[in-house]
Amino acid sequence: MPKPSSRISGIVPSGKDGWEVHSAAWARKEAGEDIIMLSVGDHDFDTSSQTIEACVTAVRGSNHHYTPLPGLPRLRKAMAAASSACTGVETTPDQVIATPGGQAALYAAIQAVLDQGDHAIVVAPYYATYPNTFSAAGADFTVVETPAEDGFQPRADMIRAALRPNTRAILINTPNNPTGAVYSRERLEQLAEVCREHDLWLLSDEVYWTLGGGEHVSPRSLPGMAERTLVINSMSKSHGMTGWRMGWLTGPEAMITLLTNLNLVTTYGLPAFISIACAEALENRYGVKEIAERYAARRTVLLDAVRGMNNVNVRGSEGGMFVMLDISAFEPDDEKFAWALLDKENVAVMPGSSFGEAAAGHIRISLCQPELVLQEAALRLRRFASSYRREAA
Ligand SMILES: Cc1ncc(COP(=O)(O)O)c(C=O)c1O
Repeated sequence: MPKPSSRISGIVPSGKDGWEVHSAAWARKEAGEDIIMLSVGDHDFDTSSQTIEACVTAVRGSNHHYTPLPGLPRLRKAMAAASSACTGVETTPDQVIATPGGQAALYAAIQAVLDQGDHAIVVAPYYATYPNTFSAAGADFTVVETPAEDGFQPRADMIRAALRPNTRAILINTPNNPTGAVYSRERLEQLAEVCREHDLWLLSDEVYWTLGGGEHVSPRSLPGMAERTLVINSMSKSHGMTGWRMGWLTGPEAMITLLTNLNLVTTYGLPAFISIACAEALENRYGVKEIAERYAARRTVLLDAVRGMNNVNVRGSEGGMFVMLDISAFEPDDEKFAWALLDKENVAVMPGSSFGEAAAGHIRISLCQPELVLQEAALRLRRFASSYRREAA
């Protein structure tokens, strides 16, 4: 074939991507082995039946045509109401744009604020697609870690130290994937100060906002921040709708108008029947409370089961769909630990270092399994940890 563009070739550089343990576990599970998969963040249950019915009704009702580029008016109204609740800032439909999932919202946000060669700061540990989404924009970025011993909370002094003259944006995620940390108001206020002082955009990924423990603080609500914050939202996690591909961006109206031009050349609008079902699900919060309660219960079950384990420390793990365990006391090499756990106990987890240096010496455990499975996984982890120490001794 003729040479592909360097832009497309540069999105995912070849080589190791951190998902090796997961891929091997998946292959073994597909081959019939009894593997407990705790390595991915996709629900183990279906979308709410009310949303499914709304979609069936919509598809039978001739909703088979193009939709407006920024989203159906009813959908934008529902998204604006959800954004008002999520961010604590009264939001109008003109301040939101529908995208096919949170990932497309991330892509649009990065395209919207960074030119080729511009610089951004990515607060780590981060969701695995972040670096590649910057690469897709030809933008440069610096990873600023959040120390594990600080509960993976962002530190303004560390972010300040990474600023460059061409820094245009900071990307954060709270509640966080992979750590489960919920950023505190105080740390977000300090971060907001940096953004105001240096006239930066803040890209705030809040796709797990309904799964947080305690108060969700959106930096958009902080003084002077609504004009410089783009919030990434999604129905994937809150409404159990990963496969429906529905997300949205919230930001200043002028930026949303510009982003509509991006939809002109990318999505050209979203499917009508999906949009109608999503609007109804947002209006009625279908599944939201049940899903939040389910993850809160699972988090409690897993944390209770591991808290008694010697040499395993819980870090972050306040919200979202993941728990982060510090296993460095008996094995600093988290990848080695994850491989051995898979080989000896058939439990697949993600090595923390897949998500950045700050999470090295940790493992990320997904809560996307029923409580009984999580309990069984904790038992296997306990057995593994004690024999691991014996072998090491
Ligand atoms: C932090 C974070 N942001 C964004 C996404 C993208 O989700 P989606 O594209 O399904 O909305 C994910 C998915 O796991 C995530 O963990």
